[in-house]
Amino acid sequence: TWTSENVVDDLVASIREQVGDASVICGLSGGVDSSVAAALVQRAIGDQLTCVFVDHGLLRQGEAEQVEKDFVAATGVDLVVVDAQQRFLDALAGVTDPETKRKIIGREFIRVFEQAARDVAGTADADGHPVKFLVQGTLYPDVVESGGGSGTANIKSHHNVGGLPDDLQFSLIEPLRQLFKDEVRQVGLELGVPEEIVWRQPFPGPGLGIRIIGAVDAERLDILRRADAIAREELTRAGLDRDIWQCPVVLLADVRSVGVQGDGRTYGHPVVLRPVSSEDAMTADWSRVPYDVLARISNRITNEVEEINRVALDVTSKPPGTIEWE
Ligand code: XMP
Repeated sequence: TWTSENVVDDLVASIREQVGDASVICGLSGGVDSSVAAALVQRAIGDQLTCVFVDHGLLRQGEAEQVEKDFVAATGVDLVVVDAQQRFLDALAGVTDPETKRKIIGREFIRVFEQAARDVAGTADADGHPVKFLVQGTLYPDVVESGGGSGTANIKSHHNVGGLPDDLQFSLIEPLRQLFKDEVRQVGLELGVPEEIVWRQPFPGPGLGIRIIGAVDAERLDILRRADAIAREELTRAGLDRDIWQCPVVLLADVRSVGVQGDGRTYGHPVVLRPVSSEDAMTADWSRVPYDVLARISNRITNEVEEINRVALDVTSKPPGTIEWE
């Protein structure tokens, strides 16, 4: 019978068999899949695993800490954090085109991860246990979608980590290959992965970089982070997290409108709330979030984030609108 305990036991045994005494590297994104995959491999082989977290500075409030502190505390993984925030800001400076942003973020991510992987591999080599394996959080639906091919080295491009160069040859460990998302969550809970991570809604690899309409800079990221944190807090408080697929908050950074806040006129920015319901993100509808919840979010954002003086609601289904604005 399927219990998360049995599944963990089976997967742990097969990871041990596959890995032997080799060293293993895993990229963490803060998302459910990579976190549960890493926790499983950690359970199986302990300190033979090194996780790498590239902090690109495009995560939401509290997410980097969740990986660096809570996840590490819960699982005991050996974590290397690469603070690449300035590097990403520099690379994105002045860029407004969505596809260009995505390409830049993807490219920089691969470069930073690749260098970190080399560093980790170099260390492990000295111990006589070369890094031979790379953990991937591939799920069963991904396997089916991509024709069931199992691979070495190359990482699916829709994940955060793109293709790695040929001279970094790893075999893949994909412990979640036979699981669906809800099973991955059960396994994560069984392994003690923090609930905030296990129940995290989808979040795009390019992060807040594609939720700022206009060029990305540190100040705009800070504004969006504060607004997004309020929206998330109120949706959670209203008990809507499991009803809503996700709710991007989008900063229209190049748009300004006149408002009146406190004692006087302001000339601030709008944010757009984009709550959607969906089964698989291929199609989506806008979520009918109760008016009082929307009102609380709007009031709090315009009161607490002084740069924002207007909150708009996106009522477009997908198609024609995508979930993200970029
Ligand atoms: P769209 O905007 O295409 O998004 O309707 C569909 C789903 O995919 C997420 N998304 C991404 N996830 N890397 C990711 O890992 C990406 O580049 C990316 N772009 C969009 C989006 O949040 C939604 O859940």
